[in-house]
Amino acid sequence: MITKPKGTKDISGQTSWNWNTLENKLKSISAVFNIQEIRTPIFESKSLFVSTVGEGTDVVNKELYEFNDKGDREMALRPEGTAGVIRSFIEDKMYVNNDITKLFYLGQMFRYERPQNGRQRQFNQFGIELLSKDEIPYLDFEAISMAQKIIDELELKDIKLVINNLGDGESRTKYNIALNKHFEERKEELCDTCKERIGVNPMRIIDCKVCSKEAVVKKAPMIYAYISQASKTYFEEIKKYLDNAEIKYEEDATLVRGLGYYTGLVFEFVNTNENQGAKSTIIGGGHYSNLVKHLGGPDIKGVGFAIGMERLMIALELSGYEFKQRSIDAMIINVAEDNTYANNLLTTLRTNDIKADISYRKFKNAFKDVESTNAKAAIIIGNTEIKESKVVIKWQDTKEEQKVLLKDVVKIMKEKV
Ligand code: HAM
Repeated sequence: MITKPKGTKDISGQTSWNWNTLENKLKSISAVFNIQEIRTPIFESKSLFVSTVGEGTDVVNKELYEFNDKGDREMALRPEGTAGVIRSFIEDKMYVNNDITKLFYLGQMFRYERPQNGRQRQFNQFGIELLSKDEIPYLDFEAISMAQKIIDELELKDIKLVINNLGDGESRTKYNIALNKHFEERKEELCDTCKERIGVNPMRIIDCKVCSKEAVVKKAPMIYAYISQASKTYFEEIKKYLDNAEIKYEEDATLVRGLGYYTGLVFEFVNTNENQGAKSTIIGGGHYSNLVKHLGGPDIKGVGFAIGMERLMIALELSGYEFKQRSIDAMIINVAEDNTYANNLLTTLRTNDIKADISYRKFKNAFKDVESTNAKAAIIIGNTEIKESKVVIKWQDTKEEQKVLLKDVVKIMKEKV
């Protein structure tokens, strides 16, 4: 038997229904924030991810699903959504008629990681990108407040917001030089992975699970000392908006995030419930002032976040969220010898947009179909009903039965469901 690839999941039945419910919820919250959908390809030129997410990041160095296509072009399955969205934003010149462009996306991402609960090789993200000609702290706040609204509306428990300021591009460069110098001098104290991060992505050493507990990281220079006054002021503005909206947060100088394009604000919504699984970060995001320019576009800044949909599902389960059961309106049970009467009724119901199906099983078993589809009514047809041009409707909530004329079925169903 051929089985699904490691680190992937099939989604069907009630679970698929739940996914749709959640996706629709996220789409309607996007509409509240005037954010429009964008769909970009699942694969892009590999160079797009190398130059945005960054060389030296785990996502590019270790986790990229890369391949050469039949034309020998170097391609990669997208490991995240931001790079493709920005590529499309520039390519389609979306900035020409707008000072602000707000986009959301939903879709599969791919990272070759060690699979665990909440960590897959194919996973789904819902993300937003808010792009603007000017630096507007309120947009950073808007991104966080939308994520917070999602958490609030889904009544997620045990979630905390952590924020940090990585400073502007120049501050980051200066900080990286200082970090490289510090870690080079104490190289022997680092784990093997972090030794390789020196000179490439030294900030990642700060949040390495192993090294962050050691003196080599604890004594490392802190980002705060390298951040420009302008960047500090900007960050304070965002915090003011958060305070004003009574959104609680924790500042954590070790939050650096794993992707290369951030400047200024970075944030994560973390699940503090121990049962969340290997990875507790449900939402990750931040500001990027140079990414659009870096990809050959105009001087446009952005801020955004992405939710790991599988992790959101786990968090919902842990919070006891109850999804509505998938249901149909009517299940026809035909116990008459002839099928024509029942089949014609089924067609009539569907023509009138009543969610309906027919069970071909024997009477008792047919009720299993009524139950498994959560049908609101069973419509029973026997030889007597056919003779009388009637049907029996059995309402599943009250277990009441009523015999009605065939010609009244649609009207009655429309009134009740
Ligand atoms: P990220 O932190 O790499 O950020 O991913 C965002 C979220 O995707 C994570 O917090 C997590 O919930 C989920 N995720 C990541 N990897 C996996 C995995 N292997 N299995 C399951 N879930 C996973 C980004 O991707 C940025 N593009 C977010 C962003 C948008 N920043 C600005 N705009």
